[in-house]
Amino acid sequence: MHPRTSAELRIDSLTSLSMDIDGHVRPIHPLWLRERSTESSYRDNLTGQRLMDPSDHDLMLEFRQIERQGPGVIRVQFSDGHQATYLDCDVLTEALRAPGDLDCPSPTSWDSQLPTLPQAKWNANPSQAELMGWLDVFLRFGFIVFKGVPTDERQVLRAASVFGYVRDTNFGPFFDVRSEPNAIDLAYTSLHLDAHTDNPYRSPVPTVQLLHCLANRTTGGLSTLVDGLAVCEALRTRDAQAFRILSTTPVQFRYQDPTTELTDSAPPIELDVLGRVRAIRFSPRLDFVPLLPAEELSAYYQARHTFDRMLRSNEFETRFLLNSGDLLMFDNCRLLHGRTSFDTSEGLRHLQGCYIDIDGPRSLYRVTRRQLAGSRSIAA
Ligand code: OGA
Ligand code: ZN
Repeated sequence: MHPRTSAELRIDSLTSLSMDIDGHVRPIHPLWLRERSTESSYRDNLTGQRLMDPSDHDLMLEFRQIERQGPGVIRVQFSDGHQATYLDCDVLTEALRAPGDLDCPSPTSWDSQLPTLPQAKWNANPSQAELMGWLDVFLRFGFIVFKGVPTDERQVLRAASVFGYVRDTNFGPFFDVRSEPNAIDLAYTSLHLDAHTDNPYRSPVPTVQLLHCLANRTTGGLSTLVDGLAVCEALRTRDAQAFRILSTTPVQFRYQDPTTELTDSAPPIELDVLGRVRAIRFSPRLDFVPLLPAEELSAYYQARHTFDRMLRSNEFETRFLLNSGDLLMFDNCRLLHGRTSFDTSEGLRHLQGCYIDIDGPRSLYRVTRRQLAGSRSIAA
């Protein structure tokens, strides 16, 4: 894609408006502009929310009169009698928004060649600029490792509350990850954990996970991370059939303990309406494909095998040791995580984890950006 050099709002006639982007002209639809009116008769001043249902607009709505009110300002009269003033820059910003645009840094996919771990020194009261740096890294790479988080119990909840709201589950607001007798989840043993996303059986799945290391006195127990987005994109090019199967076959994910029974069904690779990878649900401990016709099952097993080998490969996986005071925060719908086994006789390995949702960090990014822009314009 070429960078845009010019965008302009053009009044073509008294009743027609268009947008010119680098010589490509696109008309502005009257209904599209009508429902963006910010007049106080139509939109609540305080909340910015509409006061009427836009589906009630006349489907044959037209422009009656469009005129320039001053530089960068237009005044529009619609055929239903509504009159509204618009800033050119506001109309252009809205018009240039790509479908599915989250207005946040776009993901940068990475593989095992990632030169350094995205990490930052923890600060419980970060400046706006510091916060912006953290969020930018997290949203781009899907994870960040904070160093120097105090190793007190429940600190993971305090760190989580900087970015969003803690998602309470049947495991409680937070969970202890350490080797336990009669563990209710294999995470609470010293066993190796293959690359997985957490809680694929939940609806909705928690979208961000935090893991805070309170103690790690073992030589094993390395953390593993894989960028599922990078693996999915590679799979899509290398084996389109496997990608199609994994993005269309609904798989059951189940969790069960004496007081809980959770199950949900979804394809391991979930696509959005634009065909982009929206979420990965993958957990070799918990997935059950339905009894499909034999040839479909064979193709599914082949596809899962290919995907799993890629997830585990040196090409994509990165490994590192979480030391006490390190806190890993990652996108649980994009990254897969795991750990190598460890020997409990060497010493204690203790993490505390919790979940938040990704709308929290995304919102914080936009608000911080707005505040930084405000303070810059005041200083100017
Ligand atoms: C988990 C998990 C990883 C670890 O608790 O979900 O994957 O490093 N733990 O122990
Ligand atoms: Zn996990």
